[in-house]
Amino acid sequence: MRQGFNLVNNMDTKFCVGIGKLKLKNPVMVSSGTFGYAEEFKDFMDLRKLGAIVTKTITLKPRQGNPPPRTCETPAGMLNSIGLENPGLDIFIKDKFSYLKKLGVPVIVSVASEEEPEEFLELAARLNLIEEVAAIELNISCPNVRGRESLISQDPEATFKIVQEVRKITGKVLITKLSPNVTSISEIAKSAEAAGSDAVSLINTLSGMSIDIDKRKPKIAAGSGGLSGPAIRPVAVRMCWEVFNKVKIPIIGMGGITDTRSALEFIIAGASAVSVGTANFINPGVSVEIISGLKEYLVKNKISSIKELVGALKI
Ligand SMILES: Cc1cc2nc3c(=O)[nH]c(=O)nc-3n(C[C@H](O)[C@H](O)[C@H](O)COP(=O)(O)O)c2cc1C
Repeated sequence: MRQGFNLVNNMDTKFCVGIGKLKLKNPVMVSSGTFGYAEEFKDFMDLRKLGAIVTKTITLKPRQGNPPPRTCETPAGMLNSIGLENPGLDIFIKDKFSYLKKLGVPVIVSVASEEEPEEFLELAARLNLIEEVAAIELNISCPNVRGRESLISQDPEATFKIVQEVRKITGKVLITKLSPNVTSISEIAKSAEAAGSDAVSLINTLSGMSIDIDKRKPKIAAGSGGLSGPAIRPVAVRMCWEVFNKVKIPIIGMGGITDTRSALEFIIAGASAVSVGTANFINPGVSVEIISGLKEYLVKNKISSIKELVGALKI
């Protein structure tokens, strides 16, 4: 059994998964930055059905984000350069987390601080004090922030160092979110694992650019941005499989999941859980549909536990 993949008695054991000591009733979560702070989606679904909710990435201080336009449509996907707009940790805790913590769904708080890596420690220390924070996701892979030549997640040593430092100050479940904009994502995953990360989530967006040929200008003001949606799915599935073969910690797979079949691709490639991102903008209730679809798939194929499917790829 993959380390951290635990079954629990009071849940549907066919369907529940463990990410370190965090128990999820099902393997479907929603990705950072594509689900706001959950309240925005409350009219579209029963939020309590989700396996977990990952918040929009929070930084220590508020951020205005990048100038508009920040998004544009691309073939089978979208480009975004939001630039980590968020109200900062204090307002997040006061205004947003007060809603999230009442839902009865594990809340994974995504944090970032590419420009000032030491702020990761303060973010983690403050979140460590909040009982209802189920896990911390280290977003070391946002392509839309300035001030660094490269991302932490593009450097195995920088990844090791930040995960190790955060690990020292929190007993919360720690998830490290990886960038696809690297030569070898499994090398970075191995660094995160060696430094004590409980899980890795992958992939963040792929760097991309789209040009308005009439204006001869980039379609988004920042110039380049992060590509997401079905266009990146094959890249993400391949990366999941590569990482699955190199680390023992659980993988949270994402990148272009739009339905049950695409979620299953990630699980078969080695993801213990999956996360739905861009598809939330097209069909806000899609993650709950995927939960039902996965259950049906298990019954139809007489599979006694979802964990049997994790990494079950036949080569
Ligand atoms: C508009 C938008 C905003 C995003 N914001 C964040 C963010 O704040 N933090 C983060 O870790 N990932 C962010 N992401 C990346 C997603 O969480 C996800 O990793 C990526 O989009 C791939 O999944 P998808 O193709 O299902 O969207 C964002 C993606 C989009 C489209």
